[in-house]
Amino acid sequence: MDRKILLGVIVIALMLAVAGCGRKGDEQSDTRLVLGFSQIGSESAWRIGNTRDIEEQAEVYGIGLMLENANQKQENQIAAIRRFIAYKVDAIAFSPVVEEGWDNVLKEAKDAGIPVILVDRDINTEQDGLTTCLIGADFYKEGVMAAEYLIRKADSLGLEHINIVEITGTENSTPMRQRQAGFFDTIKDDDRMSILESIDGDFLKSRGAECMRYLLDRYGESIDVVFSHNDEMTIGAIPEIEKANLIPGKDILIISIDGGQEAIDVLKSGKINCVVECTPKLGKALMETALKLKNGESVDAVIHPEEQVFSDEMNVSAIAPRGY
Ligand code: AHR
Repeated sequence: MDRKILLGVIVIALMLAVAGCGRKGDEQSDTRLVLGFSQIGSESAWRIGNTRDIEEQAEVYGIGLMLENANQKQENQIAAIRRFIAYKVDAIAFSPVVEEGWDNVLKEAKDAGIPVILVDRDINTEQDGLTTCLIGADFYKEGVMAAEYLIRKADSLGLEHINIVEITGTENSTPMRQRQAGFFDTIKDDDRMSILESIDGDFLKSRGAECMRYLLDRYGESIDVVFSHNDEMTIGAIPEIEKANLIPGKDILIISIDGGQEAIDVLKSGKINCVVECTPKLGKALMETALKLKNGESVDAVIHPEEQVFSDEMNVSAIAPRGY
């Protein structure tokens, strides 16, 4: 047998095993809803928590989940979506690594009559109506909340000039674009604030460290604030600040996003000043939406979870365990 065909047969067989049910239309198949979900990868504690939550909620709701991890590659996500279409799943969900480049595969899903749910991140398509809804955080608001914290902190410390470096998430991803836009829009009329540089850290701890080394080499002690788009990069950056004989949380204010347990522990130690929450717990809303679609019910176009800010303005010892 041709190697490609053999590989395809193995992949379909594995998917059947994962979903725990027969192909739709088989005599032995059960009536469970089958949801194909293409996850971006495992780049952060947030992402791992998000995958775990979706798996747990699929169990709770009795949904057959076909989960594929794309290892940060858009082409892997497109291939996964094509496999879900070939399998005739009831619904497809995916967390798009970037915003552009989805039109073709989503037209194929639409032609096959399979509804598509965006999880976590948004996309830009030329054609409207290729997806049914988006379940994910309001990233713009997260950027606004990060900037509002900084403005309050600057007021309370009586700071007159503030040099900010920004370590951003994956270029062309929704959280990168919207967190930056929310932050910039909120500080733009505050004369004290200057952005020294924005640099792409790709949401990775190793890149957070590399970016911080570069920024310290270039700007040294003139950096007053690090605004990092996720905890992973923040946790990578902090030891670099210490190696440069500067005190994170004091010499340089640190603002992060996500609110995973590790970052909250660092906040409690005083090395992070503020963490804006981005919850990975999207599984319940995803399963409820998939069931509604299967039953022909209408669904909300956008579902944003409630999120909060953790910071040195509060009693941080009272923050409950985060679960991711
Ligand atoms: O899309 C959500 C972002 O992706 C999280 O902030 C980050 O940690 C993750 O990798």
